[in-house]
Amino acid sequence: MKDLFYYEFKNGVKLKNRFVVAPMTTYSGNKDLTLSDEEEMYYRKRGESFGMVITAATAISKHAQAFQNQISIKDETYLPSMKRLAKAIKEGGAKAILQLHHGGRMNAKGLYPNQDIVSASSIKALRDHAPNPRALKTEEVYQVIDDFLQAMKLAIKAGFDGIELHGANTYLIQQFFSPHSNRRNDEFGGSLEKRMTFPLMLIDGAIKVRNQYANRDFIIGYRLSPEEYETPGITIEDTLSFIEKIIERDLDYIHLSLGKYHQSSIRDKNDNEPIISKVKTIVGNQIPIIGVGQIDDCDQAIDALEYGYDLLAVGMASLADPQFVGHIKDKQKPKKTIDDQSFLPQSLFERLDRWKGIEDRGFNLIEKK
Ligand SMILES: Cc1cc2nc3c(=O)[nH]c(=O)nc-3n(C[C@H](O)[C@H](O)[C@H](O)COP(=O)(O)O)c2cc1C
Repeated sequence: MKDLFYYEFKNGVKLKNRFVVAPMTTYSGNKDLTLSDEEEMYYRKRGESFGMVITAATAISKHAQAFQNQISIKDETYLPSMKRLAKAIKEGGAKAILQLHHGGRMNAKGLYPNQDIVSASSIKALRDHAPNPRALKTEEVYQVIDDFLQAMKLAIKAGFDGIELHGANTYLIQQFFSPHSNRRNDEFGGSLEKRMTFPLMLIDGAIKVRNQYANRDFIIGYRLSPEEYETPGITIEDTLSFIEKIIERDLDYIHLSLGKYHQSSIRDKNDNEPIISKVKTIVGNQIPIIGVGQIDDCDQAIDALEYGYDLLAVGMASLADPQFVGHIKDKQKPKKTIDDQSFLPQSLFERLDRWKGIEDRGFNLIEKK
């Protein structure tokens, strides 16, 4: 049986356990998009318990910003803020992974003057009040790739143990892979293969940056959403073809963004095979897979490992209980009350009050004193 309380990557990086704080936006950065003191505390508390912490989606450029008070790594002036973030996570012995993000057509409107909301094509997302994005010109796409790689160089300088490319949850990287948002006919679109160009260029670029500016122990991960609801939209077959390309590259993990770790297709209700089983058939043991989605206690964690996941990302349960792993180790139930002892930034706490479905999972919010 896999040991819950130890993990070693192929590059030799060791984790104190297989639990990972899932990347979670806190909406709580300072006005200038640097890390706030509340956020620093939030990360410090979780770094004491979890093996690895993936940060909130961090904006790689001015136009990448998707949310109010989202932390940024858009230029050198953000280095002190990013150093504080890496240090807060690492102090307790966790590995610190910075999630690199561009929101594309999912950016909220009105975040700053002269906002430029861009995407692969000028197609609105299927949601209420979605902005109409401007299609990036071919040379601008190369600039965005460069922005990601510049951000990665800063992440190395800031002392992170790795980066995660946020290719999931309908944001820009996914928008290039998606036949819904990508209707281009240059090298970045037109066929399944061409829709892979942008994410694969990013991955190849990141590997080059690692070779040049870091060591092989610098972790590079890729987060993806295996399917989309839209028609046309990403299918599981598209994703399996993409994963075949990813595993040819020297990447350290793939992170499957799912609502439930054992979930099957959201497009084909007659297909009951869990997505993870399909992915494992393709990847075998060639690359570690991080699972996520309602891993709320020890039984679910063990079950997820049996499905084939190597690392377990914990979202909501890590928000409620910063000492989640310690409680599991001591055979106690993780705390499900979200209160002062959860050490959450205030804006995040207020958002959770409106988050759908958390009571059904046994979480409850207690107003701060
Ligand atoms: C408050 C909140 C913020 C989130 N922000 C991000 C994010 O910045 N990047 C990301 O990839 N996923 C984000 N997610 C999704 C989580 O990483 C995770 O996939 C999801 O919460 C499911 O895991 P859970 O069931 O353990 O909560 C967010 C989720 C929550 C609850």
